[in-house]
Amino acid sequence: MTYIGRHPAAGSSQGLTVRGISKRFGATQALDRIDLDVRPGEVVALLGENGAGKSTVSNIVAGTFPSDTGRMTWQGRPYEPGSPGDAIQHGIGLIHQEMRLLPDLSVAENVFLGRLLRRRGVSTAPG
Ligand SMILES: Nc1ncnc2c1ncn2[C@@H]1O[C@H](COP(=O)(O)OP(=O)(O)O)[C@@H](O)[C@H]1O
Ligand SMILES: [Mg+2]
Repeated sequence: MTYIGRHPAAGSSQGLTVRGISKRFGATQALDRIDLDVRPGEVVALLGENGAGKSTVSNIVAGTFPSDTGRMTWQGRPYEPGSPGDAIQHGIGLIHQEMRLLPDLSVAENVFLGRLLRRRGVSTAPG
């Protein structure tokens, strides 16, 4: 993946900005200088064939692993999540499509599951 797209009002300091993100896994250059803007209230879809790099972008934004190059900002400040928990502290989380959803909960409850549990004082951490 080399390019996702840019909102006409890109450059706004609010929301999420991703600039020049690259990621290599061994011999595979998964991402090559990605730019992405997500503005407040905007719904953005990443479209691409299997292996295009959608999950890799998502994982970098959600703090699963770092990028090799590039930088991100969130709400106008440098954003460098060190872990998924760190990203969640910033209000950024990844909801997995398959096998990870609780069918008895609403979409909103699934999206905010980690926060709801923490607010109720129930630890999800091992131990
Ligand atoms: N942990 C990994 N180790 C090695 N290669 C990986 C890893 N994760 C992703 N890749 C490779 O990076 C490329 C992008 O993968 P991915 O982001 O999962 O694409 P998508 O989500 O668009 O299907 C693919 O070539 C994939 O095989
Ligand atoms: Mg994927």
